[in-house]
Amino acid sequence: MAMKRIVILISGRGSNMKAVLDARLEATVAAVISNTPAASGLQIARAAGIDTKVIDHHHHSDRAKFDHFLAETVETYHPDLIVLAGFMRILSPEFIHRFSGKIMNIHPSLLPAFPGMNTHQRALNEGVKLHGCTVHFVTPEVDRGPIIIQAAVPVLPEDDEQTLASRVLEQEHAIYAQAIGWFLDDKLAVDGNRVKFTGECRYFGALVSPQI
Ligand code: GRF
Repeated sequence: MAMKRIVILISGRGSNMKAVLDARLEATVAAVISNTPAASGLQIARAAGIDTKVIDHHHHSDRAKFDHFLAETVETYHPDLIVLAGFMRILSPEFIHRFSGKIMNIHPSLLPAFPGMNTHQRALNEGVKLHGCTVHFVTPEVDRGPIIIQAAVPVLPEDDEQTLASRVLEQEHAIYAQAIGWFLDDKLAVDGNRVKFTGECRYFGALVSPQI
């Protein structure tokens, strides 16, 4: 069977992208596309021999035009899956419908808590004792698509935004490759807002680390 094809979209340092590349999944990473020319993740992708493209949103007069151009470019790579890895643009419903069921995102909170930005500081402000990250399929409602896997981490009394972010990031790197691997193996089925595992797969949809 032909290898499945992945296109990764980034905007910045690309540590999640790197974790996915390092996992050496059975797939072809056809391209890494950034909306920011300065994204340092682009160097990592180039060093790994992956085709990279910059599609700078500043060069497009509105979101619809940017998204259309992005979609046309993504399409040329014939992806089975589009992986958003720190991609800091909200995608339009048109883009999402065009690649329906084929877009994954990682979000640094235990969704549906703390959608949007500044998740770690908001978690600290709310005094939650568990925080974490979520991999989900992308639907037009931002940060609300069907959840594939989550990892929880403790919020420690001495935490600040940075220490909490780095504890969460370590888990992001673990769960993103896991979720993508399941997708590539056709182990995920979406039923409404729920992701179920097909076949004999055991349920591994939640990690808590380190053990408290
Ligand atoms: C990650 O925390 C991701 O969850 C969020 O933005 C950050 C991107 O980091 N959406 P990186 O570019 O993958 O290092």
